[in-house]
Amino acid sequence: MKNTVIKIGGSLLFTDDKEIDKKKIHNFCQIFKKMEYPGSIVIVCGGGKIAREYINAVRSFHGSEALCDTFGIYLSRLNSKLLISSFQDFAYPLVPKSIEELSIALLFGKIIVMGGLQPGQSTTSVALEVAEFIKANELVILTDVKGIYDKDPKKFEDAKLLKTLTYEKLQKLILNSSGDKQAAAGEYRIFDAVSLQILKRSNIDVRIMSGEDLKEFEKYWNGEENISYTIITNE
Ligand code: UTP
Repeated sequence: MKNTVIKIGGSLLFTDDKEIDKKKIHNFCQIFKKMEYPGSIVIVCGGGKIAREYINAVRSFHGSEALCDTFGIYLSRLNSKLLISSFQDFAYPLVPKSIEELSIALLFGKIIVMGGLQPGQSTTSVALEVAEFIKANELVILTDVKGIYDKDPKKFEDAKLLKTLTYEKLQKLILNSSGDKQAAAGEYRIFDAVSLQILKRSNIDVRIMSGEDLKEFEKYWNGEENISYTIITNE
């Protein structure tokens, strides 16, 4: 039995023009449909750019950060529902809204797609909570860069991809790079503080790789080697 959690950043589901990337969603679902999997698969979907638009609007109305977070949660659930519609019968039809609802969904043996759970965290934290709950062998985080870098690759051309990271090194990196905005709605980074705490107690191997080009993830899913990613482990 091999249980896997995959987190897909919401931004990956949209084109630069904020249109739904139907082809990519279709291709993503096809990767899982192609082969029988000997365990549970839970996909955790993020909110993406549209969530951030809503969050910015609510913030401009002086809504609290917790209220902004709830918009992120709704949008991540809507994105999840979109993936479910593409999976058709392969996926459990409802989006679990709690770990308890997830435990019921797991009984059906289908792919489960879910979004946020409660304010104050990111969908990466959800992915870790789920991975801990289902005793996942691995967690794969698909994002818009190739993994974790020593500095922001979108700002620094000389940023280096870190191939391996221990929990301790990751903690240092988060502390050094996180400004005040790190824990604001819509601004949680690839790894936020809540995610780090769960990671430390649950001992899960986490791979962070690009989901821009699904060919890379497909190769990984099919057991091929030579894929660039960051692996975070306890040693
Ligand atoms: P994420 O920030 O996790 O989405 O969730 P994302 O798609 O991974 O982000 P990008 O686009 O790839 O960068 C969207 C927002 O939803 C709220 C937070 O405000 C978060 O920033 N959220 C999500 C919660 O409050 N609780 C959750 O459990 C999950």
